[in-house]
Formats: sequence, C-alpha cells, structure tokens
Amino acid sequence: MSPKRVAILISGGGSNMVSLVDSMTGDHPARPCLILSNNAQAGGLKKAADRGIPTAVVDHRPFKGNRAAFETELLKPLEEARPDIVCLAGFMRVLTADFVTRFQGRMLNIHPSLLPKYKGLHTHARAIEAGDAEHGCSVHEVTAALDDGPILGQARVDIEPADTPDTLAAKVLIWEHELYPAVLRRFAEGNRSPVLMP
Ligand code: GAR
Repeated sequence: MSPKRVAILISGGGSNMVSLVDSMTGDHPARPCLILSNNAQAGGLKKAADRGIPTAVVDHRPFKGNRAAFETELLKPLEEARPDIVCLAGFMRVLTADFVTRFQGRMLNIHPSLLPKYKGLHTHARAIEAGDAEHGCSVHEVTAALDDGPILGQARVDIEPADTPDTLAAKVLIWEHELYPAVLRRFAEGNRSPVLMP
C-alpha cells in the first residue's frame, strides 16, 4: 500500500510539525506532502524547506472578516497536495464548519491542555490559576466545535508550585513532541484507540 499523505498546517515555530515530519521515515505508514501556513514569517516554513518538503503560504490578513474567502484560498494548495490526513500543528486560525467537514475523520489537532479542560487560549496560565495538580496536552480529531472532537491521545505533566505559564508550557511541549507522532502513526495505521502518556 502506498504511504498515507500528510499535510501539516502551522502558524509559528513549527516544533510539532518537525516532530511529525521527522517521525515519518522507514516503515512509518505516512509521509509529509505539504506544510501550509497562514503566516509567511512562520519559522516552521524554513525547517520544512530544509527537509525538502513542499511549503505554501496563504496569508489570512487580506481576508479579515471573511473566513470563507480565506479558506477558499487555503483549500487550493491543500487539495492540490491530495492529503489523506491533515494535521493542525500550532495552526492558530479557527476553521469554519464547512472547511472542517471536508476533512472530517481525517483531520487532527494538538491542543496544550487536558481536554475537555481549557479549550481556546492561555491554557497553561488557566491551569495554574485553577490550582490544578496536573496539566498536559491532547491530540483530537477535529470537528466543527473548537478544540472538541474525539480524543486520540493525552500526555500528562505534574504542575509544581514553582511553575509559571512559561515553565509549564515548556514541560508540556516536550510531551507534545512525543504524543503527536505516536498518535499520527497509530491513526495512519487505522487505529483510533487513544495513546496515553507517560
Ligand atoms: C503548541 O504548544 C500547540 O499545542 C499550540 O501551539 C503551540 C505551537 O508550537 N497549539 C494551540 O494552542 C492550538 N490552539 P509549535 O509551532 O512549536 O508546534
């Protein structure tokens, strides 16, 4: 069987994208086909190009207030790449139900919280403020509702009294880089049972 084609959407540094790309070698059932960003300055674009992966940029800013028009442009390079699986990896634009439906059942996202806790932004600060003993990250299937959809994996970290949002984010990110590749591999093999770490 030919490997599954994986497109990865990013907005920033792309460390999760790199962990996914670098995992897709050898007997892995998938290969990257496109790295797509809404931000031409995203540091991840160079990391992808350095790895010989096609990249594309669709700047969201000219489409302010018209999400559907932005997504029409975003779909062009994405559909051209013919992905079997789409991974959101620090892609910081909210997608419409129409867009998500098109990739229903084959779009994944990583979110820096133990979903269903702390959907949206500032997850690390919110976990600390709530006095939580633990925090972490989740990979889930993307559905029309924000940071919702079936959970495909979670990694947990303890929150220490000295943790700040920054130290906690750094601890969680280490696990993001373990969790997302493990989930992608399992998902590409057709297995949706959740990966639990550590
Ligand atoms: C990651 O922590 C990811 O979980 C988070 O953005 C960061 C991207 O880092 N995603 C979200 O907050 C999505 N709502 P990266 O560009 O280095 O992968």
